[in-house]
Amino acid sequence: MLLLGTRLAGAALRWRLPLRYPRQLSGAAAPDLRAFIAGNTEPVREHLTPEVSLRLLTPRCRFWSQPAHLWPFSDPYWAIYWPGGQALSRYLLDNPAVTRSKRVLDVGSGCGASAIAASMSGASHILANDIDPVAAVSIQMNCELNKIPPLLVATESLVGKMEEKWDVILLGDMFYDEELAASLHNWLTEYKQLHGSEILIGDPGRSQFTHYAAQNCLQKVIEYELPEISRQENYGLTSSSVWRLLSSDIAGYQKHNTHLI
Ligand SMILES: C[S@@+](CC[C@H](N)C(=O)[O-])C[C@H]1O[C@@H](n2cnc3c(N)ncnc32)[C@H](O)[C@@H]1O
Repeated sequence: MLLLGTRLAGAALRWRLPLRYPRQLSGAAAPDLRAFIAGNTEPVREHLTPEVSLRLLTPRCRFWSQPAHLWPFSDPYWAIYWPGGQALSRYLLDNPAVTRSKRVLDVGSGCGASAIAASMSGASHILANDIDPVAAVSIQMNCELNKIPPLLVATESLVGKMEEKWDVILLGDMFYDEELAASLHNWLTEYKQLHGSEILIGDPGRSQFTHYAAQNCLQKVIEYELPEISRQENYGLTSSSVWRLLSSDIAGYQKHNTHLI
């Protein structure tokens, strides 16, 4: 019998668990869903961005030790604050100029932490994007928890979409599945060439990311040590980094300007 907490922590380690296709939610389900999320998560600040409180699934929550199949929705990736998202959000909060007055897209927003960090840093327009409709509700609840205006949320996949120009695209821990990673690689490289946007990726060194075909187009911006609790939940990961995607034409001049915090 696989417990939900073990399943999620295992996913954090192995990253082979595909996201089951999110179940559709009817509009009428939303109030019940908010009550469900409120009753089965708790506000947490023990992570790299303690100034942001997030409703997460913790070992103190009922479902953590329930069999995974009893959880009524897709695996709740939105109820975990992933190491990649933690590093990315920390970087945004410490460097508000990166998103201030900018149009920001947070792809695979999950709990919404990076989008919330962009909002706190003064971004002019933010779209939080996650294909899991339960994540969309959790993002709004986390906005309320942090007393920031509600965020615009899109639940269709925007991977591959080139039309809309974003100044900054954020991806926290999105390189966890081979197929998704391959689509992201192609899209981000082409998007960067077309729009020249700032593309920032938070990743703790997962193989799907380190084997990124465009590794030579990545510049490590900063690396953070993970707090003890995140290390325990992620089976030995000790740090997480933020990477900037460079245009292929300037990639040859990239500088490895890394600081360990
Ligand atoms: C590992 S979680 C990361 C969440 C958050 N960025 C963080 O770092 O805490 C990945 C998230 O990506 C979402 N996701 C997966 N494929 C997606 C896609 N094609 N477009 C948007 N979101 C996607 C999942 O639903 C999940 O919430």
